[in-house]
Amino acid sequence: MNEIYRIAIDGPSGAGKSTIAKSVARALDIDYIDTGAMYRAIGYKMKKEGIDPEDLSAVQTMLDATRIDFRGGDIYLDEQVVNDLIRTPEMSMMASVCSQIPAVRQKLVEIQRGMGMRKSVIMDGRDIGTNVLKDAEYKIYLTASAEERARRRFLELQEKGEDQSFEDVLEDIRQRDHNDMTRQLNPLRKAEDAVELDTTGMEIDQVVEAVLKIVRGE
Ligand code: DC
Repeated sequence: MNEIYRIAIDGPSGAGKSTIAKSVARALDIDYIDTGAMYRAIGYKMKKEGIDPEDLSAVQTMLDATRIDFRGGDIYLDEQVVNDLIRTPEMSMMASVCSQIPAVRQKLVEIQRGMGMRKSVIMDGRDIGTNVLKDAEYKIYLTASAEERARRRFLELQEKGEDQSFEDVLEDIRQRDHNDMTRQLNPLRKAEDAVELDTTGMEIDQVVEAVLKIVRGE
């Protein structure tokens, strides 16, 4: 494949989007863009600067002075690598809250569209197939049951030594599903032309293979 193509992956929290997208990006030698990390970075900055999500003028001032970029697989917020700082349960919730603010979405969607214009990419998030890259060549909607997603996140957090009970993780997942699916602006939903993959009970390799088959037209 020589021409530029875009793969959009959407789905709820914990469906395995980033793990799958990273592997697919490697297999196809294209860039991976994690749009959730961008919302997390904004959430992190709002928290750090004590900005009230309801104070829209403070949010806009902060956005105007913010640079977000991906380089070599790292996410940069104002030239600082924030990969690990944004991967905490608190930042998951901050990201979910700040992703409901129209000015935040507007700024990030603009950056994301620019990234998807220059080269072949696989981009994951909640509104990629329905909004950011509406004309993406390939669209995949990844899902799994809430319990399975909570189980995966719980194991991930345990490995990192984070102290959260399974029930709390499941509650978090349900709360974020609710936020993501019911927000007014570009809520999470399957694009009409997306292929749905339910990964409950599937191994990572099987899901990666299924996505590669779709892209290769097999
Ligand atoms: O994929 P993630 O868990 O890192 O995403 C963090 C939050 O950002 C999630 O609750 C929803 C939001 N998000 C969004 O609204 N739109 C996107 N394209 C990506 C993420």
